[in-house]
Amino acid sequence: MSLFVKKPLSKLIAEAEDSEKGLKKTLTSRSLVALGIGAIIGAGLFSITGGAAAANAGPAITISFIVAALGCGFAGLCYAEFSSMIPVAGSAYTYSYATMGEFIAWIIGWDLVLEYAVGAATVSISWSRYLVKFLGSFGMHVDPTFTAGPWDGGMINLPAVFIVICMSLLLIRGTQESAKVNAVIVAVKVIVVLIFIFLGWKYINTDNYKPYIPENTGTFGEFGFSGIIRAAAIVFFAYIGFDAVSTAAQEAKNPKKDMPIGILGSLVICTVLYILFAHVMTGVTSYKSFAGKDGIAPVAVAIEHMGKVGADGTLHPDFPWLNKAIIIAILGGYSSVILVMLLGQSRVFFSMSKDGLLPPVFSQVNAKYRTPAKSNLLFMVFVSLFAAFVPARVVGEMTSIGTLFAFILVCLGVIVLRKSQPDAPRAFKTPLVPLVPILGIVTCLFMMVFLPLDTWLRLIVWLIIGLVIYFTYGAKHSKLRNPD
Ligand code: ALA
Repeated sequence: MSLFVKKPLSKLIAEAEDSEKGLKKTLTSRSLVALGIGAIIGAGLFSITGGAAAANAGPAITISFIVAALGCGFAGLCYAEFSSMIPVAGSAYTYSYATMGEFIAWIIGWDLVLEYAVGAATVSISWSRYLVKFLGSFGMHVDPTFTAGPWDGGMINLPAVFIVICMSLLLIRGTQESAKVNAVIVAVKVIVVLIFIFLGWKYINTDNYKPYIPENTGTFGEFGFSGIIRAAAIVFFAYIGFDAVSTAAQEAKNPKKDMPIGILGSLVICTVLYILFAHVMTGVTSYKSFAGKDGIAPVAVAIEHMGKVGADGTLHPDFPWLNKAIIIAILGGYSSVILVMLLGQSRVFFSMSKDGLLPPVFSQVNAKYRTPAKSNLLFMVFVSLFAAFVPARVVGEMTSIGTLFAFILVCLGVIVLRKSQPDAPRAFKTPLVPLVPILGIVTCLFMMVFLPLDTWLRLIVWLIIGLVIYFTYGAKHSKLRNPD
């Protein structure tokens, strides 16, 4: 059988209906929007924005957010069509198995490890940074040896490992984030962002916007036009998560109508919040203040600059309490992002293992907790290693490039499925096909091109490792290619 054998759509839907038994259909479009925002707002906004403003875009980071939102918007429309049509867990991997065949599905499933597992490591590193800031605000200074990786000025990032272990254990215990708990976390996150915007607005000093687009330094990607686009590719991380809504398709009350609302609604709300947030952040202090290690906790830096300069020339923040409150909210908010990412990771590998492309260990369900506990434990170790030792920039950019690549394949999938199955029922139709998917492909590719060469090399190495595993294991054990 060919490498490009496709999983029939009817089989997928039958499998979904089968696994639906026992899953409660409780999610409304509102709770899906909340789920999306819960997975979206995290380290991208509260952490990566600072570094990208300092090193790549300056105040024009707002333009970078708009560019990244365009790419996500086009891809989001394509995700919405798929999720209204194939409401199955496994998301992009499952869609591509039905449209472009096993080989591409493998590549996308393997690539999604970068989005979910490496993404979880990225958020945990930022969590650690905010924890250190928080402890510091009480006068507790933790030795950086144990709170940062070897390339970030320490030796091992233990707090990042700690949060990964906690969230993995929660997953193993089967703690499902109920829609209510999620709604509370989301409300807190959105309130934090709104407080920051409203309080910060009056501290904006327009001098900080001059020049709005700092001149390119002579190096590609450092300010100027290339800097704006490179920053877009980096802050693209902040939008990742809206696709996680599609993994909840089987629990939606009316998936065909609610999924598009959940995916696109959460994306629109976050885009507006992000642009305002970035505007305030680079307005209250110069983007240069977010350089270096401080770039990882820019919200704290910005709040420290919301104050008056005293007679002694030192800055007295007007809201010293706000920093503590916001950091607590951020720490809680990050936990839900890490949890959703680890959950997404285990769902994708669960589906791949069920299809025979990965060893059965990834779909073994623990008898007591009824979760893929062994898989969660393996990922706990994998993600912890990244969290402990790899620099924040590297994991962040690997997540972005991996996700951009996945989005491109999803956009391509919509065009392919329109051709191969023109009459299959689609509750939500991506408008203007093939224009919208093509624009999605072009925008995402454009951002990928602007990522640094070392990030590209890592993506290529990662995909080569994946190919070796596919040809030595997946192709031989695939249930579709080797029916018994
Ligand atoms: N979008 C998520 C975050 O920024 C992954 O943390």
